[in-house]
Amino acid sequence: MYKILHADKLAANIYRMVIEAPRVAKHCLPGQFIIVKLDEEGERIPLTICDYDREKGTITIVFQPIGASTHAFAELKTGDSFADFVGPLGRPSEFCEEDIESLKQKKILFVAGGVGTAPVYPQVKWLKEHGVTADAIIGAKNKDLVILEDEFKEVCNLFVTTDDGSYGREGMVTKCIQDLIDEGHQYDICVAIGPMIMMKFVCKLTKELGLPTIVSMNPIMVDGTGMCGACRLTVGDEVKFACVDGPEFDGHLVDFDQAMKRQTMYKTEEGRALLKQQEGDTHHGGCGQCGGDK
Ligand code: NAD
Ligand code: FES
Repeated sequence: MYKILHADKLAANIYRMVIEAPRVAKHCLPGQFIIVKLDEEGERIPLTICDYDREKGTITIVFQPIGASTHAFAELKTGDSFADFVGPLGRPSEFCEEDIESLKQKKILFVAGGVGTAPVYPQVKWLKEHGVTADAIIGAKNKDLVILEDEFKEVCNLFVTTDDGSYGREGMVTKCIQDLIDEGHQYDICVAIGPMIMMKFVCKLTKELGLPTIVSMNPIMVDGTGMCGACRLTVGDEVKFACVDGPEFDGHLVDFDQAMKRQTMYKTEEGRALLKQQEGDTHHGGCGQCGGDK
């Protein structure tokens, strides 16, 4: 069992939990994810890691209840436990492999949208710990939905923007990126993590700006084990699976329209049957939805 050492609410419908998981905490790196299960029969939910403490042996997760399982997670309190907590999974962010001295020469811009702010935090924190101070934009619909602002301020240069202008700058993250460039900021690379539609439009803009951009395709994952086929996407002319080959990819090569269409289709039995007809047998069970493992 994996004990919840602390549970709180960051904003309306956004929950944070610190879980006792020493083995995961010992090995994880920014960009990776875990799979959590409430009980033996529970659905596997893949969630990107929001923070880790190797000494205390803890992992922090942040989630927004969407389906039955995540709504059940939201009911859990400090002292409760998860039956399963597997990880770290997926490939770490590319910069973890880079030479630190050359990384220090780079100007990195992180773009974090809504709940996608959580997986950006371990990345900017890791960089800060290695002597690299990045710029980061947090975008939220309004003031009440801005999360982890204090945590970000400690580890990067932060710009906050809200769609309605109720806090920080006004407008979506794409406007903030353009404004920063117009104000004279220069960047070598951008990392954008948030809703699919945000990542699509950030990539459209950064392509025009000639700014290489990494995105995290965590939102299209279902079982997170490479079995269900839900996270299939096209990157350039290659077929990839977000949970095995990612979750981070070159955003300028990702076919977002196809990924969003597949995401919608995968939600219904009819859609999954059609995908199977069109793409072949990529659904091998394991997702708990496609029935392939029954
Ligand atoms: P949201 O809808 O509140 O959007 C957050 C910000 O994204 C907005 O404030 C805006 O600045 C920007 N944005 C949204 N649409 C845009 C557009 N068309 N053009 C430019 N910018 C745009 O976000 P939310 O409700 O907190 O997001 C929830 C989603 O985040 C879920 O669908 C979840 O899958 C996703 N998510 C993604 C990751 C990841 O790894 N990519 C991680 C966690 C959550
Ligand atoms: Fe990647 Fe199921 S989430 S194959």
